[in-house]
Formats: sequence, C-alpha cells, structure tokens
Amino acid sequence: MERLSKLDSLGGWIAAASIVVFATMASDAALAQATSIRDTKHNLGTTGTGSVHLTAGTDEVCVFCHTPHGGQIGTAPLWNKNLPATTYQTYGSTGGESATLDGQVMVVGSVSQACLSCHDGTQALDNMVNAPGSGGFNASGARPAGYTWTGALADGLMPAAGITNLSADLRNDHPIGVEYCGGGITEAGGTCRDPDFKAVSRSTINGLVQFWVDTAGAGTREKADMILYRRTFAAGVSPSVECGSCHDPHNYSNATFLRVANSTSNLCLSCHVK
Ligand code: HEC
Ligand code: HEC
Ligand code: HEC
Ligand code: HEC
Repeated sequence: MERLSKLDSLGGWIAAASIVVFATMASDAALAQATSIRDTKHNLGTTGTGSVHLTAGTDEVCVFCHTPHGGQIGTAPLWNKNLPATTYQTYGSTGGESATLDGQVMVVGSVSQACLSCHDGTQALDNMVNAPGSGGFNASGARPAGYTWTGALADGLMPAAGITNLSADLRNDHPIGVEYCGGGITEAGGTCRDPDFKAVSRSTINGLVQFWVDTAGAGTREKADMILYRRTFAAGVSPSVECGSCHDPHNYSNATFLRVANSTSNLCLSCHVK
C-alpha cells in the first residue's frame, strides 16, 4: 500500500510536472507574441491578425514602414512611404480650444508625419517607395500590383469609421508638434519654464542634443521613456511632443502601443504635473 501510494503520487507528480512544462511553454509563446510587432495591428502583411491586413501580396512586416535602401529622410528612420501632401488643421489653430496653450505648435512634421502617412486616411497603406523584391523601387511611391486587403477601404486606405483614421483635422487630437514645457528649453540649455510639466532629460547623442522625459528610470533614453523630438521652433531647437512621444509603433506590451501603461493615467502624468 505504502509503495503503491508512492507510485501514485509519483505519477501525479509527473502529470503535474508536465502540466507545468506545458504551462511554461504556453506562457513563453504568449510572451513572445506580445513582444513582437508581428502579433500587433501593425503587421499589415498576410500573416497579420488585426482587422486590417493583406490577404494577398507579401508576408513582410517592416516593409510598409521601412526600407533598407532609398528611404525618405527627415521623419522616421529609413521611411518607406511618401509623406502626405495633406494640409492639416492643427490643435489650437482655431483659437478656442487652445486658450490655455503655452507652447508653440508647429506644422506637422517629424515622426508624426510618418504616422499620418497612413493614419490621416489619404494614402494607401501599401503605397511604398521600395516594394518587396528585386526592382520594387519607385521614387514617387506606388502600390504593387496584385495586393488585396481585408479591413481597408477598396483602394487600400485606412478604414474611414473609427478613431484610427485621424483625418486631416487634428484639432480634436492631443497637440503634436508642440513645444514641451511651453518653450524655454532649448538645445543650449535652460530648464522647463512651465511648472505644470515634469523636467526634461537630455543627452548629446551623435553630436546632437536629444530630449526625453525619464519614465523608465534608467537615466538614459529608453523605449519606455517619453521621447521628445528635436524641432526648430522660433526660439531655436526645442523638444517637441509627437505621436512617437506616447506611442512606440512596434511595442504592444501596453494596449494601443503606449510607451507607458495608462493605468491611473500614468502616461498623462509622466509629463503633466496635475
Ligand atoms: C507601422 C509602421 C512601422 C512598422 C511596420 C515598423 N516600424 Fe520601425 N519605426 C516606425 C516609426 C514611425 C519609427 C520612429 C519611431 C520613434 O521615433 O521612436 C520606427 C523606428 C524604428 C527603429 C529605430 C527606433 C527604435 O525604436 O529602435 C528601428 C530600429 C525600427 N523601427 C525597426 C523596425 C523593424 C525591424 C520593423 C519590422 C520588424 C519595423 N521597424 C516595423 C514605424 C514602423
Ligand atoms: C510627452 C508628454 C505628454 C504626455 C504623455 C501627455 N501630454 Fe498633454 N500636453 C503635453 C504638452 C507639452 C502640451 C502643450 C501644453 C502647453 O504648451 O500649454 C500638452 C497639452 C495638453 C492639453 C491641452 C492643454 C491646453 O492648454 O490646451 C491637454 C488637455 C492634455 N495635454 C491632456 C493630456 C492627457 C489627458 C494626456 C494623457 C492621455 C496627456 N496630455 C499626455 C505633453 C504631454
Ligand atoms: C503603414 C501604415 C501605418 C503607419 C505608418 C502607422 N500605422 Fe498605426 N495602424 C495602421 C493600421 C492599418 C492600424 C489598424 C487600424 C484599424 O484596425 O482600424 C493601425 C493601428 C494603430 C493603433 C491602434 C492600436 C489599437 O490597439 O487599436 C495605434 C495606436 C497606432 N496605429 C499608432 C500609430 C503611430 C503612433 C504611428 C507612427 C509612430 C503609426 N501608427 C504608423 C497602420 C499604420
Ligand atoms: C500625448 C500622448 C499622445 C500623443 C502625442 C498621441 N497619442 Fe495616440 N493615443 C494616446 C492614448 C493615451 C491613447 C489611448 C486612448 C484610449 O485608450 O482610448 C491613444 C490612442 C491612439 C489610437 C487608437 C485609438 C483607439 O481607440 O483605437 C491611435 C490610432 C492613435 N492614438 C494614433 C496616434 C497618432 C497617429 C498620433 C500622432 C498624430 C498620436 N496618436 C499622438 C496618446 C497619444
């Protein structure tokens, strides 16, 4: 009896151990999924699992945004899309909504223009400068033949319904191209002029001063920091809030690609002192 029950419990242990092994495998797979852009709405290729992706064309993922050669410069790295010619209405441009705005709002540029090359709804998602494969380069951008979509509009545009299509009217969106701290911090130095905001971190990288709000706590610029972008405002180069300040387009460890989870409004309070 004694021996049998030991065997029983050994069998039970083996069963329990294999459940643990399986559980570990499953959670590893889930982790790998959560940390790869392949398993986010930004996988627009045929293996995409979001509501908008190709049904025929390419299973590449990066190509909708980046190319190793021939990309656009000045917005996001090795950018593979034409920049929209859209004329935007910016936050505060009609006065009323910006009665308390301190920072200068610039024309749409920087990484925000790259995001808007899909998210303003004016350019096909598969319009690329350098399409996959040999001979895919077209300096003015083109849609490859034979690409078909699910979820997108018939001409490959961002679906019109819902908030992912921000349109050209940005007056109802958080300001972008806006000076952090209402001006006063420049490339040369200075501190946040506006006490309503957290202080800025800075470092010279490749000879240029880069700015961020340190939320990751490492003291160096990390992906989970609020990245501020160099823009030339009237007073000189200052940090600017852009789409990429709040969102990391590759990382879905927080819903809606946020750099910092917004539980108890942590994201907002990373910058705003409220
Ligand atoms: C939906 C568009 C999109 C897709 C798809 C995309 N990226 Fe990006 N990527 C961007 C944007 C926008 C930036 C600039 C973001 C910033 O300023 O932090 C960027 C920045 C980068 C950077 C530099 C900054 C950083 O975060 O490291 C690297 C490297 C990069 N991407 C690699 C990739 C690779 C590799 C893939 C495919 C596996 C990919 N990206 C897919 C939009 C995209
Ligand atoms: C990366 C830093 C940053 C983050 C994160 C951030 N903001 Fe802002 N926000 C700013 C800056 C800079 C301004 C421009 C303020 C100014 O110049 O007066 C601003 C402006 C605003 C305004 C308009 C103020 C006005 O006077 O018109 C509101 C409202 C606002 N933010 C709310 C939010 C909310 C809500 C969140 C979170 C969802 C958030 N912000 C996240 C930096 C940030
Ligand atoms: C190549 C086109 C393309 C570019 C460039 C692009 N996106 Fe997207 N993005 C999409 C598509 C398509 C979706 C899914 C839309 C839908 O489901 O309605 C999406 C969805 C999103 C979502 C919603 C995620 C969710 O969980 O609902 C966010 C946030 C987002 N993008 C932010 C950005 C930001 C920020 C940038 C620039 C840093 C960017 N995107 C650049 C195509 C793009
Ligand atoms: C100051 C921070 C901030 C900036 C700047 C910002 N966003 Fe967002 N965005 C957010 C937050 C927070 C959410 C999540 C809102 C929610 O939970 O409904 C969000 C949600 C979104 C969504 C998904 C909406 C949904 O509910 O499905 C898209 C798409 C998006 N942002 C695109 C952009 C683009 C493109 C830009 C630049 C033009 C931008 N964002 C700039 C903070 C920001």
